[in-house]
Amino acid sequence: MKVRLSIMCALMVFTSSNAMASSAVAIPEGMGPLPEKVDVPANNSMSAAKIELGKQLYFDPALSKSGNISCNSCHNLGSWGVDNQMRSIGHQWQRGGRNAPTSFNAAFWSAQFWDGRAPLLEDQAKGPPMNPVEMADDDADMLVARLQQAGYGPLFDKVFGKKGLNFDNMAKAIAAFERILLTPNAPFDKFARGEGDISPAAKRGMEKVAEIGCTSCHSGPLFTNNTYQQFNYGVDAGRKEVTGNDGDDHYFRVQSWRNVAMTAPYFHDGAVESLDEAVRIMAKAQLDVTLSKAEIADIVAFLKTLTGEVPSVTYPVFPRPAGKALDFRD
Ligand code: HEC
Ligand code: HEC
Repeated sequence: MKVRLSIMCALMVFTSSNAMASSAVAIPEGMGPLPEKVDVPANNSMSAAKIELGKQLYFDPALSKSGNISCNSCHNLGSWGVDNQMRSIGHQWQRGGRNAPTSFNAAFWSAQFWDGRAPLLEDQAKGPPMNPVEMADDDADMLVARLQQAGYGPLFDKVFGKKGLNFDNMAKAIAAFERILLTPNAPFDKFARGEGDISPAAKRGMEKVAEIGCTSCHSGPLFTNNTYQQFNYGVDAGRKEVTGNDGDDHYFRVQSWRNVAMTAPYFHDGAVESLDEAVRIMAKAQLDVTLSKAEIADIVAFLKTLTGEVPSVTYPVFPRPAGKALDFRD
């Protein structure tokens, strides 16, 4: 037994050093594959039935006053959890004030929204239904009545117990579904595990972002340190609007680089169309570094290696009353 174990150890050492040799350059400190698990709050444990209900709610336009807008309208799971709009289209064609970030991997962020005003996914999910420029429901009672009318009652009861259909539980189910929206196995992750390679340009970009200090903020396996940092750009006051403190003026949560190549346009105002331009602006604003075109190209090549695998999500069937229209408003 002991002999076998040491042979196995020797083999493991051999394979991992082999993998290192094929990747040629060392991965900068802190970078690593996407974690496999997210934290789950004690009062919202995961279950298959809850995730399924959350999926129905995420895709169901019955959550909106018009009956036409779902979470998926703005966080489309077919396009990396975004709508690729500068600012999303909501109720009656209104545009909101900020760009829609991706719902993929959101379960990893320290707080939700560009300014972090919702601590948990559970808090966040209560925002859009009542937001007048998003789903525009009059109030939580109206929304709960609509879900009841659609036939959600028994589905909530199954997950949350008797009389389970309420606004809080709606948010809990959606949050449980969002906690499975993770994108593992990006080319960088495979490279970091010694299972694949990335291009020489991407390797140069990987070293460059560590060398000039992008990774002081975009750090660790999530490529964000999950803190608020000042970004002197644009007119949005960011976190100051949440705390009222002048010291928080133009502070925003550090965005992750995970899937960033697929979530254009960029920044909280969605005003920057290309990743090249976003990288150029960031280097200048945050580090006072003027990058050459070639350096920008290398960094972008690296960022593209952070596009992960989107989980396969089958489109759900929603409960609906047979032979009766749902009561939608303009
Ligand atoms: C009309 C478009 C629209 C709809 C509908 C919408 N969202 Fe959003 N979502 C946004 C925008 C815009 C933001 C960023 C707002 C901000 O930061 O101030 C956002 C932010 C988020 C975030 C935070 C992500 C991060 O990185 O901070 C999550 C999670 C999210 N939405 C999930 C949902 C869920 C769940 C629903 C359905 C209940 C939903 N959204 C409906 C546009 C929309
Ligand atoms: C001082 C902290 C800090 C440093 C250093 C920093 N960033 Fe950022 N980064 C941020 C913050 C904060 C945001 C969110 C900006 C916003 O609100 O639009 C962000 C956003 C981004 C975005 C846009 C993400 C999106 O989804 O729109 C990219 C791309 C980016 N950073 C790349 C870089 C690169 C490349 C470097 C190094 C040249 C860098 N950053 C250095 C804090 C930083």
